[in-house]
Amino acid sequence: MAVDQVHDPDYQAFIRKVRRLLDLDLGGYKPEQMRRRLHALATRHGAPNLAVFADVMEKDVEAMNAFKNFFTINVSEFLRDASRWNELQQKVLPRLMQSGNRRGLRIWSAGCSIGAEPYSVAMLLEESAPGQQHSIMATDIDETILARAQAGRGYQESDLRQVSAERRARFFSKEPDGWAVKPALKSRIRFLKQDLLTQVPQQDLDLIVCRNVVIYFTEDAKKGLYERMYRALRPGGFLFVGGTEIVAGARDLGLGPVWTSFYEKGGYRQAGAA
Ligand SMILES: C[S@@+](CC[C@H](N)C(=O)[O-])C[C@H]1O[C@@H](n2cnc3c(N)ncnc32)[C@H](O)[C@@H]1O
Repeated sequence: MAVDQVHDPDYQAFIRKVRRLLDLDLGGYKPEQMRRRLHALATRHGAPNLAVFADVMEKDVEAMNAFKNFFTINVSEFLRDASRWNELQQKVLPRLMQSGNRRGLRIWSAGCSIGAEPYSVAMLLEESAPGQQHSIMATDIDETILARAQAGRGYQESDLRQVSAERRARFFSKEPDGWAVKPALKSRIRFLKQDLLTQVPQQDLDLIVCRNVVIYFTEDAKKGLYERMYRALRPGGFLFVGGTEIVAGARDLGLGPVWTSFYEKGGYRQAGAA
């Protein structure tokens, strides 16, 4: 019989070592997927099991970086799932701007990777309400990717394939190393390192964008995170999740599934709503 995924001593020892070495808690990630993928990574580094791989990682910076990259999976792009971003601009942002009791919105992009997501939010806000100041905070657990996000440059064609020529001209400049976000847009965002599994987010938020981040989290970890996100939203605030993600038990948490990928704190779908 296969070793029980959760009680596999090899995997548990690996979790403890990673916690000690990197201050990362793998316990919140689905063990079956994490374990399977980790074994593949260990094999690529010539390690027969995770205990040996942990020793390799401790001595070899390259193996450590390979593990960090593997663990964080930074795939992203500007306006990823374009139709959802159109909905954000056409339905959600106007509603937030109308219902808020202050001029600018408070927005959090959680698991922002290369920054494409918070910059996409900033672009749409600038189009919808030119010149208006909003607070956009973008966080990720991965410092290397955050540094790239903050630099806001070196983006390739594939990162911008959903960005129209008009938007490129307005918000980007073409540099020798790829596309760069113009300084005016860049200055709108604060980047910060944060672990979604352990750290408490902001309060009184109008919008949380958390897309394609929780796929490897356990059900418990997801539930805890969505509860904290619910508390962090203001009444009428929105949570924007990934195209294939569903917040389990959303209504019980007080998050109304208003449109595909959008949950409103205290909101409920109106009959016949598009
Ligand atoms: C696949 S990318 C998604 C990027 C972006 N949200 C998007 O949809 O295009 C997932 C990001 O989540 C981050 N991440 C993974 N676990 C995290 C955690 N516990 N806390 C914060 N960020 C995490 C990764 O570093 C990675 O940059």
